[in-house]
Formats: sequence, C-alpha cells, structure tokens
Amino acid sequence: MVAEVINGKELSMQLKLDMKKEVEYLKQQNILPHLTVVLVGNNPASRSYVNGKKRASEEVGISSEIVELPDTVTEKELLQTIEQLNSDNGVHGILVQLPLPDHINVEHIIESIDPKKDVDGFHPYNIGKMMTGQDTFLPCTPYGIITMLKSKNITIEGKHAVVIGRSNIVGKPVGQLLLNENATVTYCHSKTNNLKEITNTADILIVAVGRPNVIDKAYIKEGAVVIDVGINRLEDGSLTGDVDFESASEQANYITPVPRGVGPMTITMLLHNTIKAAKGLVK
Ligand code: GUN
Repeated sequence: MVAEVINGKELSMQLKLDMKKEVEYLKQQNILPHLTVVLVGNNPASRSYVNGKKRASEEVGISSEIVELPDTVTEKELLQTIEQLNSDNGVHGILVQLPLPDHINVEHIIESIDPKKDVDGFHPYNIGKMMTGQDTFLPCTPYGIITMLKSKNITIEGKHAVVIGRSNIVGKPVGQLLLNENATVTYCHSKTNNLKEITNTADILIVAVGRPNVIDKAYIKEGAVVIDVGINRLEDGSLTGDVDFESASEQANYITPVPRGVGPMTITMLLHNTIKAAKGLVK
C-alpha cells in the first residue's frame, strides 16, 4: 500500500481563495479585518513565523501589523501594549508570538488578551468554550488538522485517535477536538509505557513529538491516517517531520508531508479566525 498524501499547501490555497472573496465582501460593508501580531525579542524562528503570518494575511486582503518590542520589555509594558490593542476598535485579532522571554509570565499575557480578539484560541476562557463544545476561536494547528481530515471525508466518529504529545498548543487541544467529533481518544507522551502497542491500535495517529523521524511503520496500524505535526530543521537546513515519511507511507492509508502539510494549515486557520473576529461572531 502507498498512502495518499494530504497536501496542506494545496488545501490552504483553496481556503485562502474563499477567504479572499469573503474579505472583499466585508470591505464592501466597511469592515476591514485587521490582525496585530506582537513580536518580543529577536528569535529568528519567531520572526520567520510572524513574517509568514503577515504575508498570508496580505494574500487574502486582511490588514496586518507587527508590533515589535525588545526582549528587555517589562511584563507591565507588554500588558499596556495589549490593553491598547484590546480597546482599539480597528484591531480584530491579537496574537502574541510565543515563546516569550523568561522574565515575562506567559499566562498573565495570554489572559490579558480580550477573548473576543484571541485569534490563537489560547485564552483559558476560549479553551473552556472549546472543551464544552461551544462556538469560539479554535487553536490554529488543531483546527487545521481537523480541517485536513474533513477535506478527505475521513470518518472521525467512532475511530480510535491516538495523540502523541500533550502541549497546550497542539497535543491537548487536538485530542479535545477529536473527542468533540466523537472519536475515542488516547493521549501518549514521554512517560507512556508501551507506546508502540498503543499507536498500533490507532485509526488516526497524530504525531506532535518535536523530534525528527521518530515514528516509522513499526508504530502504525495498516490503513491508519497519520498526521505529522513536527517541523524539525536538520543540519543541512532542510525541514523534516516527526514521522519517517517513506516508511510510514508503506503502512498508512493517508499521510501528511513535511513541508506542505500541517504547517500551512496553521496560518490559514489564523486567517479564518481573524475573519471570524472581524465579523463579530465570537462573543
Ligand atoms: N509559537 C509557536 N506556535 C505558535 C502559535 O500558534 N501561536 C503563537 N502565538 N505563538 C506560537
């Protein structure tokens, strides 16, 4: 068997075409969707992600701005910046790029963002709404993964979904969204015993480990759907996922590649959330 590839790049392009039309329509109603991204310090990976978010916003006609602050900024100053953005009616979405410097309490910062502008879906209020199945901003990477599964009409209901990884940004929320779709969900992590036995019972396997090529066909049930969330840069500069793509493709029915997999979908769902914010759909 050779797995069918779920191409996140192509799906993103289709979704962005639809969003571009929607933004044009909103502009006719005098609504100009606007995203403000706050970047603290000079982390090259963060800068590159933030630039990608700005570029993608422009592609669909969303206006965006990057507020750059030095890594010496105090927590109080950062809170003041967010407070200004919260009260600015022209700003629909606020995203504070993570990680933040150690002297800043990340929970304080996330909780200071107006939940109606929390397009990352990281605010505990929005996480609570997600857990109780209410409509809100869904975290972008997990939302992108569900969108990829649905784009291929892959049945989630009744399936055994195994998530490897338990971060607040990916692992925990993607498990919750799969549960909301009526999957039976198992979380695995660095302290899990018998990982291979568990993953071999997965109909849908989500891999968010953060180490290159650690999951190969020995971990995969024949016919499974494999979603690779890893973005690892190798010494030669190339990108690779957490899954050994060639090996896993022999065993899976569907697989996502890296690059051109989950990564582009994350940014696309951020644009979706920004449009949702501009429409005033999240209360
Ligand atoms: N750092 C890595 N991923 C993300 C993300 O999705 N949102 C924010 N704000 N920071 C990140």
